[in-house]
Amino acid sequence: MRYFIGNWKMFGVPKSINILNKINSYYSRDKNRNKYRVIITPPYTLIESYSKNFKNKRISIGSQNCYQKEKFSSNTAAISPYMLKNVGAKYTLVGHSDNRSEGDTDVMLKNKVKYALKNNLKVVFCIGENKKEKKNKRTLVVLKKQLTRVLERKFNKNNVIVAYEPIWSIGTGKIPTASELKKTTIYIKKILKSIFKHSSPAVLYGGSVDGDNVEIFKEIKEIDGFLIGGASKSHKKFIDIIKNYYR
Ligand code: 13P
Repeated sequence: MRYFIGNWKMFGVPKSINILNKINSYYSRDKNRNKYRVIITPPYTLIESYSKNFKNKRISIGSQNCYQKEKFSSNTAAISPYMLKNVGAKYTLVGHSDNRSEGDTDVMLKNKVKYALKNNLKVVFCIGENKKEKKNKRTLVVLKKQLTRVLERKFNKNNVIVAYEPIWSIGTGKIPTASELKKTTIYIKKILKSIFKHSSPAVLYGGSVDGDNVEIFKEIKEIDGFLIGGASKSHKKFIDIIKNYYR
């Protein structure tokens, strides 16, 4: 199974549902539709209404983050996995670099993953090195730490997806070389196999993915799909990625 996940970040108002309607109508008719899943993570404000609209449709709605407590608490502005599940979210991202840079620690991320899974949300756990770490050839060391400090064997690997997003690639138009990315993805799967008893969850790539460079990424069979930022805000750009992937 392949995944095309659109992360809207701070984008979208109720009428932006037009974008999803167009993506959904392509997806529902695509002859390849059973080979992949489309998930969109709009901001919190739209999760309930979009989930209702797409309840019996192919697209799934997810959240971009969740709080590290399970249900209710006295933390102002926090949204728990339980609250997300109750408004129809099926997935949640955890550990996006935007949130790590605003203070998410490994301990917080572990609780987010734990409580999200407990509430039957599938978790898209994001990892990635920054520019300096890449320059100092620390990528694999960093990724291993990010994975082993948070993921545990007891987590249900069928409900976990890992998204490798090099921070230096997000929103910059810069992408890893194919050989670099292949090597890194194989390494991530090796670590995941050691965490989860011999088999690995799906591993996605994210960072400046578009309809052109997907032609390069699709040759790397170890990559199980994409976490797409900028290009997911336009139905045409998002659909182009899927079209070119299966071309
Ligand atoms: P871009 O596709 O805009 O580089 O964003 C990637 C990302 O951060 C998705 O979570």
